Amino acid sequence: MKLDRKEILKALETLSIAGEGKNMVESGAVTNVVTFGEEAIVDLTISTPAMHIKKRAEEDIRKLIQEKFNPDAKVKVNIKVETPEKPTEIKGKAIPGIKNIIAVASGKGGVGKSTTTANLAVTLAKMGFNVGVLDADIYGPSMPIMFDVESEKPISVNVDGKSKMKPIESYEVKILSIGFFTAPSQAVIWRGPMASKALNQMIFDADWGELDFMLIDLPPGTGDIHLSIVQSLPITGAVIVSTPQAVALADAKKGVAMFQSDSINVPVLGIIENMAYFTPEELPENKYYIFGKEGAKNLAADLNVPFLGEVPIVQSIREAGDYGRPAALQTASPLEKVYEEIARNVVQETVNRNENLPPSEAVKITTMAGCSAVKK
Ligand SMILES: Nc1ncnc2c1ncn2[C@@H]1O[C@H](COP(=O)(O)OP(=O)(O)OP(=O)(O)O)[C@@H](O)[C@H]1O
Ligand SMILES: [Mg+2]
Repeated sequence: MKLDRKEILKALETLSIAGEGKNMVESGAVTNVVTFGEEAIVDLTISTPAMHIKKRAEEDIRKLIQEKFNPDAKVKVNIKVETPEKPTEIKGKAIPGIKNIIAVASGKGGVGKSTTTANLAVTLAKMGFNVGVLDADIYGPSMPIMFDVESEKPISVNVDGKSKMKPIESYEVKILSIGFFTAPSQAVIWRGPMASKALNQMIFDADWGELDFMLIDLPPGTGDIHLSIVQSLPITGAVIVSTPQAVALADAKKGVAMFQSDSINVPVLGIIENMAYFTPEELPENKYYIFGKEGAKNLAADLNVPFLGEVPIVQSIREAGDYGRPAALQTASPLEKVYEEIARNVVQETVNRNENLPPSEAVKITTMAGCSAVKK
């Protein structure tokens, strides 16, 4: 029986690449199907070079076509692996073993710091960088949920005679979170010095291995606790997340000012506009600027800091966060592209920063946190 291209495409909608939510047609992984009589050729583009995933996709497609349409069908599957290219070899020397420490901050709460941190982390890892995430949100740690490692507990390992915490690994990102050490229902009341001590331990007493980037997901705000966290770590640069809304922008401005203040002096790598607009799936041409248009982009221009890119409001970003598989992992999806562009800009701004400025230093707190601080 002759094979029909359209019917095959329809049938492929029941298959997905291992580890992906969407079916392989919807995700854009199937780039072409051609048929000649009893022969079908399916072109696939996937982003993982893992052999077992390629093999599995090939077998699934062959089996589906033979079982559904023609047991004698000759099926050829061409698989192209398109891993995002690693734009540059990254330099940096924040602390031994960790080249760059990047703080993700916002000022206002709930604007998408944690979502952005998780998606940036998996994207940088896909580009081939060694990436760690430190969840410093002592009020509401999000990384264990966003990386689906909620029930994990870091173990202790022996490194050169010293006992160190081993970060939990998920989607090729190493993670430590205050959430791993507290019960989910437990409210943690930390004072600034306690929080920075805990974070210092998670950085210096943990077995991170060699990292190109460590991203720190900060709690919302620019208060005392923030000051003591960012002052106690040698942060390479800060990325500020904001929605385009006026109240969020006002707080983002405070965030930028905090990092640029004399007592902190951390370069701002740029601003990311999150929830920039909403596009309904059935009307892909329409953009609704729910929180205002280009507010964060304009703020970046006003403050003379780089604009790193915009992320639309997409239901699957929220769902992916709750489900524990960052949306940027969806192969060949528009969101993957969105986060890739932002990640490339973050890498570029880090390179610029390292070429033009000396490494950041932690500030030694000489008296009470926030009262007096001097550079080491
Ligand atoms: N671009 C987006 N599209 C859809 N939902 C989003 C987007 N960005 C974030 N969200 C959702 O908005 C909520 C808040 O996001 P997130 O937790 O990342 O913010 P946050 O700034 O880290 O918050 P907090 O200040 O509490 O730490 C989450 O439910 C998240 O899934
Ligand atoms: Mg958060």
